[in-house]
Amino acid sequence: MKPIIAPSILSADFGNLQRDIEMINNSNADWFHVDVMDGVFVPNISFGFPVMKTLQQHAKKTLDVHLMIVDPDRYIKAFAQAGANILSVHYETCTHLHRSLQAIKAEGMKAGVAINPHTSVQLLKDIIADIDLVCMMSVNPGFGGQQFIENTYSKCAELKSLIIQKNSSCLIEIDGGVNDKTAPVLLAVGADVLVAGNYVFSAKNPEATIASLKNTTPHTLQA
Ligand code: DX5
Ligand code: ZN
Repeated sequence: MKPIIAPSILSADFGNLQRDIEMINNSNADWFHVDVMDGVFVPNISFGFPVMKTLQQHAKKTLDVHLMIVDPDRYIKAFAQAGANILSVHYETCTHLHRSLQAIKAEGMKAGVAINPHTSVQLLKDIIADIDLVCMMSVNPGFGGQQFIENTYSKCAELKSLIIQKNSSCLIEIDGGVNDKTAPVLLAVGADVLVAGNYVFSAKNPEATIASLKNTTPHTLQA
């Protein structure tokens, strides 16, 4: 099975957003990964509904929205109306995570849960059957272009076992520092979806970079 590739719009050129959206439309990418940051949960502010509007107008693929905001429940309906197909909330921001996931599904979206690098996979044990996607952060959320945290490999394998054990159909998405070095190992430990921002948009040929990610062959780390 080939991985789902989700280029992150955070690394696009916002002066040429429509051009970059069309590039993704015409590429082998499967989803648009959309990072919304509030400057409170994470030390950065990205964009909100005006950019969602542009995506809704021009993007021809699944909109995978990653909310890095406090109190995400307040905006679930608004993101559904703005065209989100998958909406991920951070585990660390939800007091009543089960309720938040039900609210996302009630709006017709797939429900995702993002976890920070320090958040244990085992905390998802009693909710994994209700999650459509776990967005596993392999960097501290807030910025593109950061270095991949190696502990993610074992976390990903652990999550995969939990998903199998609980008979869940949840997908594993890896977010942060994905490139040609990390992608093959991530696929070998169970990743289904690869988000890539800097690696795609800083490439000379972003479309070819997306195609090569799509054709990644899984392999384990060399000792
Ligand atoms: C980080 C965001 C990521 C980011 C990934 O907070 O959630 O989606 O865009 O960027 P790269 O691929 O550059 O690490
Ligand atoms: Zn993200």
